[in-house]
Amino acid sequence: MKSMLEEIKNTSLSAIDSAYTLNDLEALRVKYLGKKGDLTSILKQMGGLSPEERPVIGQLANEIRTRIEDALENRAVEIKQAQLESKLREETLDVTIPGKKIFVGKKHPLATVWDEVTDIFIGMGYTVVEGPEVELSDYCFTKLNTPPGHPARDRQDTFYLTEEEDICLRTQTSSVQIRVMEHTSPPIRIISPGRVYRKDEVDATHSPMFHQVEGLVVDKGITMGDLKGTLNTLMQSLYGKDVITRFRPHHFPYTEPSCEVDMQCFECKGAGCRVCKEEGWIELLGAGMVHPKVLEGCGIDPDIYSGFAFGIGIDRLTMRRFNIRDLRLLFENDMRFLRQF
Ligand code: DAH
Repeated sequence: MKSMLEEIKNTSLSAIDSAYTLNDLEALRVKYLGKKGDLTSILKQMGGLSPEERPVIGQLANEIRTRIEDALENRAVEIKQAQLESKLREETLDVTIPGKKIFVGKKHPLATVWDEVTDIFIGMGYTVVEGPEVELSDYCFTKLNTPPGHPARDRQDTFYLTEEEDICLRTQTSSVQIRVMEHTSPPIRIISPGRVYRKDEVDATHSPMFHQVEGLVVDKGITMGDLKGTLNTLMQSLYGKDVITRFRPHHFPYTEPSCEVDMQCFECKGAGCRVCKEEGWIELLGAGMVHPKVLEGCGIDPDIYSGFAFGIGIDRLTMRRFNIRDLRLLFENDMRFLRQF
């Protein structure tokens, strides 16, 4: 019996030593010290011992029980410590490591100018409206006094979506003028920024998709003077109080009279240089007094009301604002370029 006890002691202690989890330890405790455990079942056989042997074996059994209990306890402490250490190692946080930089995006230069122009007009009491990019040719041309056969409807200039050519990608935001006038009675004071499309080859100053902001004012007694004052205010807000503008006669089918507006070259102050292609002036936009036929077509009486309209290229304004020489840079989405603004 003594040797059986010794055997239990040796096997249990070495098993405890090589246990790696608290669960393993608990299983060993049950195996050796539990009610049906190895040590218990030996003690149950003590009845068969002689009265001299009994206290000796009893004492030995108790000693072994204590040894096993101590071993279990010590090993449990070691396992917990090891678990704690590995957890600490895994969760180490080095607060001295520099943080990862989060790149906060910024506005595209086009969006900056778009928003600036919009803000200036909102400040003058205008409402912003949106129009569809896929447009009825009626709205893009016919109702703007540009009937079928007019050169502005040339296949070369326009993307048509149907064989009948009654639906197109709008070539100008002027289509929104018609949409607004058909559904609103004067006084009208709106701008409409948006994308437009033309069959242009891509180069430094052309793109088949670009941006315009349209403006329209219709009320009683609106004159060319109001148009000039409004556009001068816009240009001074964008380019500074010293900007010099020039209103030059032009032709658009939907305005009478029509004009183009230039600003004196900021680089050479009118003397002529590379920026203005030796002209001294830089073209900014088209404008004019809304043609009476256009008003009438939208149900507005031209004998009572008059109005002005204008269309500005946002891409051009942006290029001038940030001194960008090539339009393509605005659409290539090269972050090295865009991050500069
Ligand atoms: N739609 C013209 C263009 O795309 C610009 C323009 C000229 C708009 C005269 C107007 C206007 O509203 O009255 O070139």
